[in-house]
Amino acid sequence: MRVLAIETSCDETAIALLEASGGLKNPRFKILENFVSSQIAIHRPFGGVVPMLAKREHQKNLPLLWRKIMDHESGIRQKNKPIIPNAKFLIPDLIAVTVGPGLEPALWTGIEFAKQIHQQLTTNKQRRKESKLVGVNHMEGHLYSFLLPSKLTTNYQLLTTKLFPAVALIVSGGHTTLLLLKNLTTYKKLGETRDDAAGECFDKVARLLGLPYPGGPEIEKIAQAGDPCAIPFPRPMLHQKNYDFSFAGLKTAVLYYLREHPLKDNSSRFKADVAASFEQAVFDVLIAKTMRAVREHKAKSVILCGGVSASKTLRASFKKAVREKKGTRLVVPDFRFSTDNAAMIGAVGYITLMKNGKDLPLLANGTMEI
Ligand code: KG4
Ligand code: ZN
Repeated sequence: MRVLAIETSCDETAIALLEASGGLKNPRFKILENFVSSQIAIHRPFGGVVPMLAKREHQKNLPLLWRKIMDHESGIRQKNKPIIPNAKFLIPDLIAVTVGPGLEPALWTGIEFAKQIHQQLTTNKQRRKESKLVGVNHMEGHLYSFLLPSKLTTNYQLLTTKLFPAVALIVSGGHTTLLLLKNLTTYKKLGETRDDAAGECFDKVARLLGLPYPGGPEIEKIAQAGDPCAIPFPRPMLHQKNYDFSFAGLKTAVLYYLREHPLKDNSSRFKADVAASFEQAVFDVLIAKTMRAVREHKAKSVILCGGVSASKTLRASFKKAVREKKGTRLVVPDFRFSTDNAAMIGAVGYITLMKNGKDLPLLANGTMEI
């Protein structure tokens, strides 16, 4: 099955074309095309994502990426010609588009574009029946990103039978959510953040340290030279017997610390210590709560996903924690599928179709839950 996927929930415009097979028992994905056009440089001067700018950029970038896919797939360069499917372009069996959660103006751009493409590709009723257009949840995209091809771990197809029950931590700029999966498609939410998401907290603390957006990779970089035990930042909700998180107070603790230790200390060593200590505080909470869920629910694996899972430091710490809990394994997506991309949206589209799941309406829903 050929799956075309479109993702515009935040500041990455992404389109992917996949070949999917194997059904729910053995889902396999071959990436034919995977384009991500990042808007980081556009939003950087504002210290975060500006929704209307994101919308404008998506509107500009979607036709360019689509053009690229058509050119690649048809093997013909057709510069400056209108986007009309070439006879050699195989019509996708499925088009999947993110409908939420995210920035609504940005989501609408993707949805309208997907509808337009669907219309163009399926000019008669028969074809429209054969090529389905489905809306999908962005967070499910992160959740299933581990099913995409990876250089890190081989053969997830075999793994899928031995993974469950699994605990999944989706940790991104918009969400910090812990799920318990009975199998690939049956899951329930154990907890989530009550205020800021972990990635959002990274972005805000980076700004306090004078680092550019997005803050996660910048903090990880400078933290390498710092001491994670230098400053005892709080570990919010660490000992509470629930699976919720809270990171707003930690950000405030960093703010107060920086006020008390003003810029006479603004050496790179000082900043590195703040970054490393902050990072450690966030990761301690994420790991402790995830591993408690693993113990309580006798999970066989931890699925770590979402933009913050691009952190090598977090991956290494999770690896250590999982190794100490015998009989469990850590499952992470390839780095290129940790942060926002469309391939993961294609994976959800395929899984939704395979389980005969209910289509989500093609309406942007900024606060959609998983
Ligand atoms: O999943 P994602 O691309 O977008 C959302 O769905 O939110 O996640 C982006 C988030 C940003 O907050 C970014 O700072 C964070 O992921 N991030 C990281 C790292 N790389 C990206 N956080 C910590 N360490 C990293 N290396
Ligand atoms: Zn995301």
